[in-house]
Amino acid sequence: MPPLLLLSLLIGFDALLAVPAIAKSHSTSLRVPLHRSPPPLAAVTRLDYVRELVKSDHLRQRMISGTIGGRRYRQPRRACENATTAVAAAAESFAMPLTSGAYTHTGQYFVRFRLGTPAQRFVLVADTGSDLTWVKCGFGPRRCRLCGGGQRLFRPEKSVSFDPIRCSSNMCKTSLPFSLTTCPSPASPCAYNYGYSDGSTARGIFATESVTVMLSNGQKAKLKGLIVGCTSSFAGSSFRSSDGVLGLGHSGISFASRATASFGGRFSYCLVDHLSPRNVSSYLTFGPNGALFPSMARQTELLMEPRLAPFYSVGVSGISVDGEVLKIPMSVWDVGRRGGAILDSGTSLTVLVEPAYEAVVSALSRRLAGVPRVDVDPFEYCYNWTAGARVRIPKLVVHLQGPARLEPPAKSYVIDVADGVKCVGFASAPWPGVSTIGNILQQEHLWEFDIKNRRLRFQRSTCTR
Ligand SMILES: *[C@@H]1O[C@H](CO)[C@@H](O)[C@H](O)[C@H]1NC(C)=O
Ligand SMILES: *[C@@H]1O[C@H](CO)[C@@H](O)[C@H](O)[C@H]1NC(C)=O
Ligand SMILES: *[C@@H]1O[C@H](CO)[C@@H](O)[C@H](O)[C@H]1NC(C)=O
Repeated sequence: MPPLLLLSLLIGFDALLAVPAIAKSHSTSLRVPLHRSPPPLAAVTRLDYVRELVKSDHLRQRMISGTIGGRRYRQPRRACENATTAVAAAAESFAMPLTSGAYTHTGQYFVRFRLGTPAQRFVLVADTGSDLTWVKCGFGPRRCRLCGGGQRLFRPEKSVSFDPIRCSSNMCKTSLPFSLTTCPSPASPCAYNYGYSDGSTARGIFATESVTVMLSNGQKAKLKGLIVGCTSSFAGSSFRSSDGVLGLGHSGISFASRATASFGGRFSYCLVDHLSPRNVSSYLTFGPNGALFPSMARQTELLMEPRLAPFYSVGVSGISVDGEVLKIPMSVWDVGRRGGAILDSGTSLTVLVEPAYEAVVSALSRRLAGVPRVDVDPFEYCYNWTAGARVRIPKLVVHLQGPARLEPPAKSYVIDVADGVKCVGFASAPWPGVSTIGNILQQEHLWEFDIKNRRLRFQRSTCTR
């Protein structure tokens, strides 16, 4: 890949439509003007940033545990199956630039997304834990309250393809998650109130809309009739730094299921190091990914458990540290016994339920016992790495069902939180409960979610090829 990367990936890409590029499999870069000055990164220390990650992970974990099982969620019927009429013809895949959101001090990964006709441009959180794709939006007389000053808002009145879903429709009544029953008149829009147990909410209306994508053959295409949320009021911190959410979860309405239905039954992403600056980007790809080599990739079953929907989960068979298989009860990984492990692009640190957390953290800390400790709230084990610079970090391996092993780089689990300070980077959650493989443990790997064949493939990558 040419070294030239996006200079202002996320903001102000008005110029983008004029650029005809995007060649096959990740080989194109664009330089676009910067319209908004970047936030004052230097004002925030890495430690503050990491603390922020831990805080939002914690809220998300509560959301996850509150969501699973107890969510006001109705598994959508396969409504509007044929609505995604891709103008795909000659191309088999499309890609969207993906970057770490660290420059906004959040632990999310952001994609660029073009919604409506003509297309309006947004930066969305790429979220495998969401089904609904939504953008902050001003609909009719409603303005987006608490959406944040200066943020981009979707303007439905400027899009000829925006089509609100009626509250009297069957889709509203039976297929759309978190839809409200209020229906002042049959033609009123179908409203939603996404509520998260951390108190974050997103309220708005459902619509069908078109999304513009860049195909691998270099042409633009529109995916039509996608279900999107026009969020007109927003509260809570979960999605503060972006314009909304791209739903990559497994659910009949998610962007991932609609897009993969037309493009190869699979999507993939490569997560750059989470501390990467905004000018370092990789891609979220729908359809086959030329950068994934079947001979090199590891694979395991991609579990799409209804009980954990819309999250994807994987079968974990154990964790080892320097070859020692840790004693963790198998029930911890068993969805049928209220355990299980999800793979989540929206959580930063990996969250382990108590018995697994204890085993992993004590195995790592035992081997790091020679390094001077320092106290860094909220972590349990942190080390003065100026003194410990020559100590080898023990090798952690996550064993997945089948022979697949996830062997993350050491920096993905003994993480840099400040100059000369490293911490064991796991969070604990109560047992029984679900563990979460977070995006830091996933970084510098290419992940392919083969929805059609229910396979998860992954391979080490710097993502900048
Ligand atoms: C699905 O396709 C059929 C035939 O092309 C059409 O009649 C029908 O309206 C479509 N349904 C939706 C929800 O788009
Ligand atoms: C990103 O920007 C930094 C400085 O702002 C520069 O040193 C670095 O080379 C850039 N990286 C790429 C891949 O363009
Ligand atoms: C780490 O140890 C060095 C001395 O070996 C000391 O100067 C430094 O202040 C320590 N750093 C922290 C964060 O405690």
